[in-house]
Amino acid sequence: MLRVHELTRRFGQLTALDRVSFEVAQGSLHGLIGPNGSGKTTFFNLVTGFLRPSSGRVIWQGQDISACKPHRISRLGMARTFQNTSNFASLSARDNLLIACRNQVRSSAVARLLHLASAVREEREQLILVGGLLERFGLAEVADVPACELPGGTQKVLGVALAMCTAPRLLLLDEPLAGLNPGEKAQLMLTLRSLRDDGFTLLLIEHDMKAIMQACDRITVLCYGHLLTEGDPAHVSQHPETIRAYLGEEAA
Ligand SMILES: Nc1ncnc2c1ncn2[C@@H]1O[C@H](COP(=O)(O)OP(=O)(O)OP(=O)(O)O)[C@@H](O)[C@H]1O
Ligand SMILES: [Mg+2]
Repeated sequence: MLRVHELTRRFGQLTALDRVSFEVAQGSLHGLIGPNGSGKTTFFNLVTGFLRPSSGRVIWQGQDISACKPHRISRLGMARTFQNTSNFASLSARDNLLIACRNQVRSSAVARLLHLASAVREEREQLILVGGLLERFGLAEVADVPACELPGGTQKVLGVALAMCTAPRLLLLDEPLAGLNPGEKAQLMLTLRSLRDDGFTLLLIEHDMKAIMQACDRITVLCYGHLLTEGDPAHVSQHPETIRAYLGEEAA
């Protein structure tokens, strides 16, 4: 579904990502891990068009998208969340979601002005979609609270729900569990797995090893811009290079 080939990004003297090649299979929950500064967020920025590669290619469903802008990539079916919590205004969680859905409207403004059946139907569909997302992400009880008053962890969950408003084929999540308490983490991981079970593809950057190992089908390990290893959780957790990268030389 998504393939990167020899993907490289330099910032001046620093090579943040160095000839990284791997593939995210359709319908998988794929983990991207690695110590701080290993190039994970840079990878997301390259894939979603926020940064240009220094060299190498990003291939989405057979098409080279290395030079595409973020809005075009989003239209191709990718959505992402950002590492730092979004700042929400005083709108409720429900209204945030409705606005995000309306940004996707298909019917023309004219159809909406004239209350044509297509526009009315679409409006109804959006309300149903938002209701479903609120339920699915455990936000139904706080749906009408101003989002800026929600606890940080709940705001992060809302950020993931917002990314789903475009019904992306690939969802890229940059440390969605950071700042969540253990109960919220377990709940969000269940939700992510259920999205995978429903056919969505997810690429997840996360430092919480337990969550990654339990939930992911496949894991790619980066270290200082290099791809260290890749495989299923059992393979990756036993790989000496991974252990070295995480626990230091002696443990390996
Ligand atoms: N816009 C930029 N300009 C210069 N250097 C950058 C830029 N973005 C990232 N870097 C550098 O590239 C390297 C990789 O950073 P990146 O944010 O991709 O790491 P990360 O794996 O996401 O780390 P973390 O786990 O801390 O989020 C770091 O050394 C970082 O300082
Ligand atoms: Mg990062």
